[in-house]
Amino acid sequence: MRPLQWSDSTQILEWRNHESVRAHSRNTAKISASEHENWVRAKIELADVSSQVWIFSENQTPVGMTRLDRLDKSNPELSILVNPNLLSQGYGTVMLKKTLELETYGSHVSAILAVIHNSNLPSIALFTKFGFVKSNGSGEFSTFLLSKK
Ligand SMILES: CC(C)(COP(=O)(O)OP(=O)(O)OC[C@H]1O[C@@H](n2cnc3c(N)ncnc32)[C@H](O)[C@@H]1OP(=O)(O)O)[C@@H](O)C(=O)NCCC(=O)NCCS
Repeated sequence: MRPLQWSDSTQILEWRNHESVRAHSRNTAKISASEHENWVRAKIELADVSSQVWIFSENQTPVGMTRLDRLDKSNPELSILVNPNLLSQGYGTVMLKKTLELETYGSHVSAILAVIHNSNLPSIALFTKFGFVKSNGSGEFSTFLLSKK
């Protein structure tokens, strides 16, 4: 587990544009290389301030990433993506556990959010396992909360 680096860019774009990932994303369109590069640059420059992206590997094979967006300081949003070739092998569980353990979440945090597509059963199962509870839904997506207070 380590912070995002510029050299991860190509790998992440490949994952993000995979059909199975796009199907459950808020933006289902394919991301262009230039749009993606701007995203990676911003995430690296703003790391620790407004967001944090963690990359996970096993035996030098990249297995996925987690991301904490802190745009709303009281309710940071956590998301996760496992290498589409390595699904349902427990990697998501290990990655979410490590991310939740590592983050200290200051006293200003009231709850951690996850916004999940209603048809995304693996993701719902995963976040629920760590205590996230469905709070509300708008259309195709529902918000799950892990209360910190
Ligand atoms: C959601 C995601 C991270 C899960 O990662 P994973 O490594 O496949 O998950 P795990 O193998 O650790 O399994 C987690 C839970 O999901 C369940 N699960 C796994 N694959 C499943 C499937 N195909 N259908 C239903 N449930 C499934 C498991 O049963 C497990 O729960 P359990 O331990 O109570 O049995 C992964 O599917 C993914 O990256 N999807 C694309 C991106 C995405 O949708 N991210 C979530 C948006 S925040």
